[in-house]
Amino acid sequence: MLRVGIVGWRGMVGSVLMQRMREENDFALIEPVFFSTSQAGGQGPAIGRTIGPVEDANDLQVLASLPVIISCQGGDYTNAIHPKLRAAGWKGYWIDAASALRMQDQAVIILDPVNMPVITRALDAGLRDFIGGNCTVSLMMMALDGLFKNNLIEWISSMTYQAASGAGAAQMRELVEQMTYLGTHANTLMADPASSALAIDQVVTSALHSDAFPKTQFGYPLAASLLPWIDKDLGNGQSREEWKGQAETNKILGRTTEPLPVDGICVRVSSMRCHSQGLTVKLKKDVPIAEIESMLAAGNSWVDVVPNRREESLAQLTPAQVSGTLRVPIGRLRKMSMGPTYIAAFTVGDQLLWGAAEPLRRMLRVLLTRGI
Ligand code: HSE
Repeated sequence: MLRVGIVGWRGMVGSVLMQRMREENDFALIEPVFFSTSQAGGQGPAIGRTIGPVEDANDLQVLASLPVIISCQGGDYTNAIHPKLRAAGWKGYWIDAASALRMQDQAVIILDPVNMPVITRALDAGLRDFIGGNCTVSLMMMALDGLFKNNLIEWISSMTYQAASGAGAAQMRELVEQMTYLGTHANTLMADPASSALAIDQVVTSALHSDAFPKTQFGYPLAASLLPWIDKDLGNGQSREEWKGQAETNKILGRTTEPLPVDGICVRVSSMRCHSQGLTVKLKKDVPIAEIESMLAAGNSWVDVVPNRREESLAQLTPAQVSGTLRVPIGRLRKMSMGPTYIAAFTVGDQLLWGAAEPLRRMLRVLLTRGI
């Protein structure tokens, strides 16, 4: 059986990966070797059978004995370990959730429902670094897969509504702390049915401005507010998250010349683990909306086209509805007033599933299918 090293399985993305691998019975097909940077010798996760003690994630010799390593440990670990393994001549497959290697020439961004031909070509060419994409990009591409496959897109503008989980587990906790803090402060007024909305707003606003408001992680209030900047400032007016939109989309498509323009503004909102995006898609030609809907629905098995009506949109196209599922609904589809080649759309997806863990376990399946 294929021996697979798994690093970072305790963290948030790692835990979702373990859950998905259990659900899909992946462990029946591999011999997992679990690693830890801090708790070597301890117990690994429950996988339904006895496994050996956890190995030291900094032990290059043990790592190098494995044909496949999956890492959810984060970019610092990747930067510290991956170059050393390669320098020592390790020829195994490195599957990673972190962005560290993503844009390197020898790395492939994996999103197999969208770019299986790119993955196959890379495997045929002997490439061995397979890296999960940025969650926002992966979810946008899952949603628009049908239009990419029909080569209909001239450019995309994506305005994002990104969940707290994209910032990390501590940030998710802090979002709920912020909500609790606001609830607690508004409690007395909320208990009085006669209190006015403006009085409640005053209490909430003064709580948001209070020094005691919990904001160690985000630095600012997210609950009852939003944060219009994600990741580093690139100094040209663009955030790093916004830059990834075009860079990663084109790399996922395997497009090296004439990049498809993708740009927009990335915003953190107070959803827990679903990223949403308001899209403007400029088409290469005028195609009726019904045809666009059919193409989108045929894109892959996870995309769901939601009819552009109030009831279905509110019931099906929300983080509350999509959270914890692999479904990637896309709706609000209509021609915009700019002209018949401009399409509006709105899409939602769980950033811990298709945005992080799922492409990794599916890459493992691709390797297994090829008899690696
Ligand atoms: N960078 C993303 C975010 C998550 O901050 O929401 C990871 O792809």
